[in-house]
Amino acid sequence: MLQHFFNPSSVAVVGASQNPAKIGYEILNNTFRYNYGGAVYPINPRAQEILGHKVYPDLVSVPSEIDLAIIAVPAAAVVDVIKQCGEKGVDSVVVISAGFKETGPEGARLEEELAMQARELGIRVVGPNCLGIIDTASSLNASFAAGMPLTGHIGFFSQSGALCVAILDWALGENVGFSRFVSLGNKMDISETEIMLSMAEDDNTRVILGYLESVEDGPRFMEAARKVSETKPIIIIKSGTTTAGAKAASSHTGALAGSDHAYRAAFKQSGIIRAESMHSLFAYAMAFAAQPLPKGPGLAIITNSGGPGILAADACDRSSLHLTPIRKETADRLRAFLPPTASVYNPIDIIGDATQERYEKTIEVVLSDDVLHAVLILLTPTVAVSAETVARSIVRLAKNANKPIITAFMGEKSIRGARKILQDHAIPSYDYPEDAISALDAMLSYRRWREKPPMQYRQYEVDTRKVRQVFASVIKQRRHDLIESEAREILRAYGFRLPESRIARTTKEAVRAATEIGYPVVLKIASPDVLHKSDMGGVRVGLEDEAMVEEAFFEITSNIQLRQPEAHILGVMVQEMILQGREVIVGITRDMQFGPMIMFGLGGIYVEVLKDVAFRIAPLSVESADAMIREIQSFPLLRGVRGEAPADIEGIRDALLRLSQMAVDFPEVIEADVNPLLVCPEGQGAVAVDARITIQE
Ligand SMILES: Nc1ncnc2c1ncn2[C@@H]1O[C@H](COP(=O)(O)OP(=O)(O)O)[C@@H](O)[C@H]1O
Ligand SMILES: [Mg+2]
Repeated sequence: MLQHFFNPSSVAVVGASQNPAKIGYEILNNTFRYNYGGAVYPINPRAQEILGHKVYPDLVSVPSEIDLAIIAVPAAAVVDVIKQCGEKGVDSVVVISAGFKETGPEGARLEEELAMQARELGIRVVGPNCLGIIDTASSLNASFAAGMPLTGHIGFFSQSGALCVAILDWALGENVGFSRFVSLGNKMDISETEIMLSMAEDDNTRVILGYLESVEDGPRFMEAARKVSETKPIIIIKSGTTTAGAKAASSHTGALAGSDHAYRAAFKQSGIIRAESMHSLFAYAMAFAAQPLPKGPGLAIITNSGGPGILAADACDRSSLHLTPIRKETADRLRAFLPPTASVYNPIDIIGDATQERYEKTIEVVLSDDVLHAVLILLTPTVAVSAETVARSIVRLAKNANKPIITAFMGEKSIRGARKILQDHAIPSYDYPEDAISALDAMLSYRRWREKPPMQYRQYEVDTRKVRQVFASVIKQRRHDLIESEAREILRAYGFRLPESRIARTTKEAVRAATEIGYPVVLKIASPDVLHKSDMGGVRVGLEDEAMVEEAFFEITSNIQLRQPEAHILGVMVQEMILQGREVIVGITRDMQFGPMIMFGLGGIYVEVLKDVAFRIAPLSVESADAMIREIQSFPLLRGVRGEAPADIEGIRDALLRLSQMAVDFPEVIEADVNPLLVCPEGQGAVAVDARITIQE
């Protein structure tokens, strides 16, 4: 896939320049000076020779085939060059030139024209407005980056050219190598999704790293990432997390969702490891590119000083790793050579006068114990040991190890050499133990992702004809918000359990309805204009008899007449009171990039205060539904605390999956709230007592 981009047998540099200050010169020079084995054709109508190479006036005059064209001419001239590419049969192009949609409407128009031209000619394009691409295996540096990355196993793509430059510079300093390096630019054609898939096929790439500001086609991106992460880890930092969009929403679900929720959900559901900072992006990359994944959570910490050991233990506690207690036989083997003042509990403290030999013996013992799935080696410089000798021991022992070995040699001046030895031999070395732990933690969760059984999806029998009917009548009335009775019909069509309810226009009707339903009942204002009924004094619960119903009817209607006189009152809704229900909220909102998103959280009238919610992108798998239920902080309350009966978790899962199916079946549903969904004790299901649905044609 995209072979001509990364392993072309010939490259043309259009806009090659004689002027060393020009990008056209830099690119040409980069294609020559790193031993790229293919043919390179400089193209410039005004030059005969550059850097000792013959220059061609245009693409068509080049005597042989061209696999890849790198275009660095003014934006206005790019469309013509693409036409030449079509004529010449060039199917892969990197447009370095800036001056397109990033500059505003005029530039966007030009980019649209370029995209159309390329599409018509079947030409694939990276860019425009990018730094270029690099492939270390083919020694191709088709970019204007200052320098060539070391060869390594990290494939990196970035939506920011400037960040590419910074990272290249950092990586050269840190001895981190890359297999491929792609600056995506404006992503006019080729986006992160295809680059990820091409890196998945590339044998030199072991871990895929990305910097993103946006995703082009969310569902396609997720599908590709899910496929790729079955074999290779994908680590992405996503910038530009705003909540501006949320402000526009009218429902609780819409108000609580922000695009960052969507990205977080999408990453979780497709096995992408999210890095929260550039720092952690590379901390993770170093470990994933160099070490095997841990087979389990058991971590052993070896240290020659207490403080760093404790810091590491704390960080471990905050992660999904376990500081596994050292087994007796292992402890005995350690005691055989460690001084009595050493600690053989985890962290294993081999104390301040630890020598290289003591480190070596301790590491050997720990490596041979299968319940210890990963090893973190800490070292603070002392007179007793040369950090470099310990580094060499670690390198030697790591050769036959089948578990990840990670180090944190703390300090700078006296351990710089040791760090270099470790990095040169693919042993990650961090400045602080916390970084090492977070990298191992990411590796463990990725391993668990890979080992997960295939996801299960459920499909429910639903009355879609009924749903279409209701939506059609709402649209016909030029409304977007369904009134409560319509929303209830939709939920019924999707198999939700609803409380018995009747509309009453008079107190007499209300009392009759309550009698038929059976006490206790709940009374609620029935009006298409009252969104949050409780806030307006429009709800009364726990009504035990006729007198209470009459009083509540009067109170509710006069509250609304007082507080929202313009509201059209249809009457009151008399509703079966659901007892012992835990209040949760389930909802639908739509994300620009990823489409329908399902929300779950602790419900009721405080939902927007507590914000204890979880999101996932629809369609939901059974596993994703379970994961989001367990993800909210108040999940333990649902499981029952202080002798309370556990709530019907299966009932919640069922509601989430039905809602997910609705969101996929009916794209016209832009927002929906079931708040609350009252969850009864285990085995008794869940009841949707209040619902709001907003549709758009
Ligand atoms: N059928 C019911 N059974 C038990 N409690 C209910 C019922 N209907 C509503 N409630 C309670 O009343 C609160 C508000 O009712 P709701 O219909 O959600 O109105 P709104 O959200 O518009 O204020 C709910 O959060 C719940 O605590
Ligand atoms: Mg409500």
